[in-house]
Amino acid sequence: MQKIKVEIPACPKSSYTIAIDNDFLPSVLSQIKKLLPGKELFLITDVNIAKTKHLKNLLGRENVPRFIISPAGEKSKNIKTVTKIVEEMEKKSLGRDCAVIALGGGTVGDIAGFVAAIYKRGVPVIQIPTTTVAQADSAVGGKTGVDSSISKNAFGIFKNPAAVFIDVNTLKTLDEKQFNSGLVESIKHGLIADANYLTYLQKNLKGILARKQKPLEYIAVKNCKIKAAVVGSDPCEKNKRRILNYGHTIGHAIESASNYKLLHGQAVAIGIIAANIIEQKLGLGGKERLQVLKRLFGELNISLKIPKNITKRQILDIISRDKKAVQKWPRFVLLEKTGKVLCKNGQFAHQVERKIVEEAINILIKENY
Ligand code: GLY
Repeated sequence: MQKIKVEIPACPKSSYTIAIDNDFLPSVLSQIKKLLPGKELFLITDVNIAKTKHLKNLLGRENVPRFIISPAGEKSKNIKTVTKIVEEMEKKSLGRDCAVIALGGGTVGDIAGFVAAIYKRGVPVIQIPTTTVAQADSAVGGKTGVDSSISKNAFGIFKNPAAVFIDVNTLKTLDEKQFNSGLVESIKHGLIADANYLTYLQKNLKGILARKQKPLEYIAVKNCKIKAAVVGSDPCEKNKRRILNYGHTIGHAIESASNYKLLHGQAVAIGIIAANIIEQKLGLGGKERLQVLKRLFGELNISLKIPKNITKRQILDIISRDKKAVQKWPRFVLLEKTGKVLCKNGQFAHQVERKIVEEAINILIKENY
């Protein structure tokens, strides 16, 4: 087992450990009990996970009260689901001495973390991510929340987990589309922080796609190390943490404009191409990187087509409400080179002229890159 500590110097009490291993779910419940002695546990998962062996592997014969989110996925990531879960916890008479376990992908983790943050003014949450996107990104760093009918994560709060347990064996039951799309967050980590990691991903993609244990463990460790270093230094996204949003400004807009028909990773892949087009227009280079990215996304079978019903105007409207927007215009994270984010005057997100962004969206829509 490998352990990575997420040190948060600004709030040492919120520091936590990520444990990474293969096929160790059956031992996780006893580890949680040791970490949170005397806490009554409440588990949140979804219908997809409930059908797999993971739930049984985690709980064994223990009768842990639970809530099963249905349907699985972004459609359930709303305040109605939060209300149902909170009321279920109240019906079970759970007090502030309870703790929430999130077993599942990004949606489960985001909802469960949010519930834990607000239930009786806050109880601990343990994240057990089971998807590539959650293991690489969403289970680490404490971002929790649900969507409004207008935008993604409109209800949100930072809630660091008490611990994260990553069992790479859980990825074996994930469908191919979800598995591949989640790998985009790993590619993003290579782009923003470590060019050698991007090369590793290119060279070892076959083993990763075959879900071989070694490369899955390798990328889990690498992703968590990269993410831990960033979120430890800037837990509440005042500045540096924005680098984790590379490709997400236009990516999130396309994801919500598609009414979540596009998976997060696919939308972020398109957003990464958008960022690259902007970088090239600003004279930051990136032409060769674009070829590498197109090849990688192609090998992952990720279509970079923006659905026909999504217009430039819609994308511009949504990005004007981005959380990084200043005077209704977003800030963009850009690369200086592969593995290094552009930092100017100590800032990691930059203003880009509307004309350039519009041109980039036109190029994207026409797939003329
Ligand atoms: N997913 C981006 C972040 O955690 O900041």
